[in-house]
Amino acid sequence: MRVLGIESSCDETSASVVEDGRKILSNLIYSQQKDHAPFRGIVPEIASREHVEKINSVISDALKNSKEKPDAIAVTVGPGLVGSLIVGKMTAEALGWMWGLPVIGVNHLEAHVFSALLAAKDLEPPFIGLVVSGGHTDLIHVQDYGAYKILGRTRDDAAGESFDKVANLLGLGYPGGPAIDRLSKEGDPKRIPLPKPHMRGSWDFSFSGIKTSVLYLLKDRNPAQMRPAERQQFTADVCASFQASVVEVLVEKSLLAAKRTKIPQIAVGGGVSANRELRSRFATRAKEEKVKVHFPSPELSTDNAAMIASIGYYKFITQKGAAKPGPLRVDPSLPIHNWS
Ligand code: KG4
Ligand code: ZN
Repeated sequence: MRVLGIESSCDETSASVVEDGRKILSNLIYSQQKDHAPFRGIVPEIASREHVEKINSVISDALKNSKEKPDAIAVTVGPGLVGSLIVGKMTAEALGWMWGLPVIGVNHLEAHVFSALLAAKDLEPPFIGLVVSGGHTDLIHVQDYGAYKILGRTRDDAAGESFDKVANLLGLGYPGGPAIDRLSKEGDPKRIPLPKPHMRGSWDFSFSGIKTSVLYLLKDRNPAQMRPAERQQFTADVCASFQASVVEVLVEKSLLAAKRTKIPQIAVGGGVSANRELRSRFATRAKEEKVKVHFPSPELSTDNAAMIASIGYYKFITQKGAAKPGPLRVDPSLPIHNWS
């Protein structure tokens, strides 16, 4: 069965055709990053206008690459920017009506949880899911497709948001995650002591304290007055130290969840799962703890429609929460919930 996935919840317009939930036949991603970069964050009005401009050509290219007509359409209905979500939903419904195909509404976070399925063909629930994106940080006991127990989430900034905010403090532009990832390679992660908020006794996360420590450090040391070479090294050291703190908390909490639930596999998803230090630290520690850890390919870590088509397929074949009569509803703050 071929599912056309459509994703437009934030600043990527994407369309993909996936066969039987796992085999990607096409995956086109148009990123609006350059349009938002001057504003150091996403401007919702620009995002929805760009989606309107690009969505038809992105979908038609995805269909061209996959050759045959799809059997169903899956579209992100939340969480995300309301105007951007509406563009995807209206397009999906128009195509569904025109071609007489079922249209399945998909939760974007749930799609990130299962995005590693597209790389690890043998991965099946149960597993511990870790979603680390620009807006969310969730640790989830994934019991089955559509059956979840949320263990913990962030109490303040999301992991990706903290990367973006620290990058902003350092003048590294938007989005900050890739820039910090890159610069950290030149820095010493032990040079600058930063908090590692493990929040022991709770599965929740809190990243705003690390960001505030960076803010005070910059006020104290004032890199603007350093010589260029000194400033460059200092910035790289701050990046490496900050990244090490966030990564340690994410890795150790996920491994502890795997140990406590006696589920020896973890699937990580969301933009921050592209981070090289997170991947390498997870690989080392998971081996030590005899836990298997799965990641999507770096391209499928950030927003894409292949993950939407994949989870849409599972919703369709289980016939749970899929293709109800009447129009879909978009929900900008849609939580992860069990399929009914
Ligand atoms: O999942 P995503 O593409 O969009 C949301 O659903 O939010 O995640 C975007 C977030 C941004 O905060 C971005 O800075 C972060 O993912 N990110 C990274 C990396 N690549 C993207 N964070 C750390 N290291 C990276 N390599
Ligand atoms: Zn996302």
